[in-house]
Amino acid sequence: MATARGQFSSRLGFVLAAAGSAIGLGNLVAFPVMASKNGGGVFLFVYLLFVALICFPVLLAEIAMGRNTQRNPVGAFSALSGGHRGWRLAGKLAILTPFMIAVFYTIVTVWILIYLMRSLSGGLDTLADPATFEQVVGSPTLFIPFVFLQIILFTILLGGVKGGIERMARVLMPTLAVMLIGLILFVMTLENAGLGIRYYLVPDFSQLDGGVINGALNQAFFSLSLGMGILITYGSYFSRKDRIVESGKMVAIADTSIAFLAGLLILPAIFAFDPGTDPDDLSTSSVGLIFTYLPQIFLSMQDVVGYFGASVAASVFFALVLFAAMTSMVSILEIPISYMIDEWDFSRRKAVLTQAGLVSLFSVGAALSFGMSSFFTDFIPYGGGSRSFFDLIADTFSEVILPLVGFLVCTFCAWRWRQAGFTGELSVGHESFRGSWTDRYINFSLRTFVPVVLLFVFINSVAEKYFAVNLLAVFGL
Ligand code: PFF
Repeated sequence: MATARGQFSSRLGFVLAAAGSAIGLGNLVAFPVMASKNGGGVFLFVYLLFVALICFPVLLAEIAMGRNTQRNPVGAFSALSGGHRGWRLAGKLAILTPFMIAVFYTIVTVWILIYLMRSLSGGLDTLADPATFEQVVGSPTLFIPFVFLQIILFTILLGGVKGGIERMARVLMPTLAVMLIGLILFVMTLENAGLGIRYYLVPDFSQLDGGVINGALNQAFFSLSLGMGILITYGSYFSRKDRIVESGKMVAIADTSIAFLAGLLILPAIFAFDPGTDPDDLSTSSVGLIFTYLPQIFLSMQDVVGYFGASVAASVFFALVLFAAMTSMVSILEIPISYMIDEWDFSRRKAVLTQAGLVSLFSVGAALSFGMSSFFTDFIPYGGGSRSFFDLIADTFSEVILPLVGFLVCTFCAWRWRQAGFTGELSVGHESFRGSWTDRYINFSLRTFVPVVLLFVFINSVAEKYFAVNLLAVFGL
């Protein structure tokens, strides 16, 4: 049963809340790693192209579905399809996905919390040692900050102080952007940083391959929070007086700008700190890269501001990243919670506690995946090697599933809800949209190449991730 819904008080309120949810570890951690391992400039180029041409229409489709129905993803698919069981299933996938994302996201957020505590307590120099990351992720002491984080997150969700978090986000997210720019300017002064800037900004098209294409699309979906029900849910709180297209554009631009800046910080830092870096060596980069280079950037500031000043800068930065991760976590966790409240008639308390129990249980398995338990570390073989429980969830729900849900959303809007319903919703509060070039582009793309590309990337991601086969190899990519 749908309960009465609140609304964002202003368009800016929606943009800030949606951007606060979208900007998170995907932008600050995953994007620079993906860019460095997938050829730098060519990855950035394909990523930007996908955001504008493929992701933007899907983003509008999700917000429109939410606003039209004022429901959670299952309710939205159900209401617009007249209760069709198959489409309800698509909605359920959009509930399961954020739940699973929350499982591995929790663990990466715990790592950020540990880095914050260590820089606060004067351990910045040890963090800059590449061996530290492995030791942090494999140590049982991780469970102390883990429990602490879970208590804070679920108290926020129980206590309804989300409004306060959103108000804080209005100040802290712009602060994060300013700090990123300051850090970029500092890294640019370091010797050899220019090589990294070149690697990041000048595309080398000979590096274009199936991995770049899959990676760029999946990363763009993850970063914009597409294919995970979140924008359907946010759309359900969107005022009928406001323009979806314009707000959607602002969210996409804000999110993409932060990812771009994070790349512009980390890639030059890699070349500055490891002058002999051969771009080919970067193809095996993993998330540990961020956790090594970020502390190195701060440590290298000590010549200018001293060790204490460098530690303060590192602490402020990790605190801002932690905040960005927490705003994202709160919004991911809210999706299954509001589903339980709407569809199962759970009280908020019961829904939050059920969710807390389930996420914590799965997250413990994910935390044990880095050497603490051989069962979870060598959980399952696929893609040519043994994978952990964490890998299985992260690979499946941050990459493979997202284009599938995106495919379902756009075929649903194009063929089931149809142009009249969809364009009608996008025109509410925005009459001049009807018949505009944007309208034509969105409708044409959702009916033609967007679902084709999404389905292809889904199939190719399954082939590549689980079977180590690149279907684009037939085209020489
Ligand atoms: N888009 C977020 C990021 O890039 O970190 C991740 C995310 C946030 C996923 C919120 C899901 C979500 F509901």
